[in-house]
Amino acid sequence: MTVSAKTVSASAIHDHTYKVFPNDLNSTETVFGGLIMAILDRVASVVAERHSGRACVTASVDAMHFLQPAKRGDILIFQASMNRSWKTSMEVGVRVLAEDYRTGEKRHMVSAYFTFVAIDQTGSKTPVPAVMPETDAEKRRFAEAGRRRERRCQEAEERRLRE
Ligand SMILES: CC(C)(COP(=O)(O)OP(=O)(O)OC[C@H]1O[C@@H](n2cnc3c(N)ncnc32)[C@H](O)[C@@H]1OP(=O)(O)O)[C@@H](O)C(=O)NCCC(=O)NCCS
Repeated sequence: MTVSAKTVSASAIHDHTYKVFPNDLNSTETVFGGLIMAILDRVASVVAERHSGRACVTASVDAMHFLQPAKRGDILIFQASMNRSWKTSMEVGVRVLAEDYRTGEKRHMVSAYFTFVAIDQTGSKTPVPAVMPETDAEKRRFAEAGRRRERRCQEAEERRLRE
């Protein structure tokens, strides 16, 4: 079955917000990293499912670095968009900002790349639409995703050789 290409804007999430409350904090009074990872996985999977029109599973997450902490009362802003797709897999880029509502200052907390695989009704991997990048930023992310994919394939091959 052929699946027609889709734009990045058709599935992007620009500002999913989450208000930090005291029960979101770890023992150093900053936001628990696992909470952010779980929300990111959900937000990114919405992008993958919108793009593919299929249920999607998380295949991998490239390294996730927490650059800055978020604090009690901050507003977390989650952004996610489709960078590129291949046969059955898709790379979604994610970014989290922490906003101080008193000053409006926004700090970059985390960026990462999730890979999802689309699954059909029988549980098998299934083809996904190509991505049509339109803006300069989308075209840059599309090209960079290709380089990351090459690295992932190389790492997968190295893992296979070690097994
Ligand atoms: C992800 C999964 C579907 C891949 O299945 P598989 O049979 O190993 O897949 P294949 O080697 O045939 O690869 C299928 C696609 O996934 C990609 N892929 C597989 N493993 C990957 C990884 N670790 N990172 C990135 N991409 C990966 C392949 O490059 C391929 O992409 P393409 O079809 O676009 O070329 C399977 O390993 C799985 O079901 N894992 C568990 C997923 C899960 O439970 N996630 C957490 C809860 S949602």
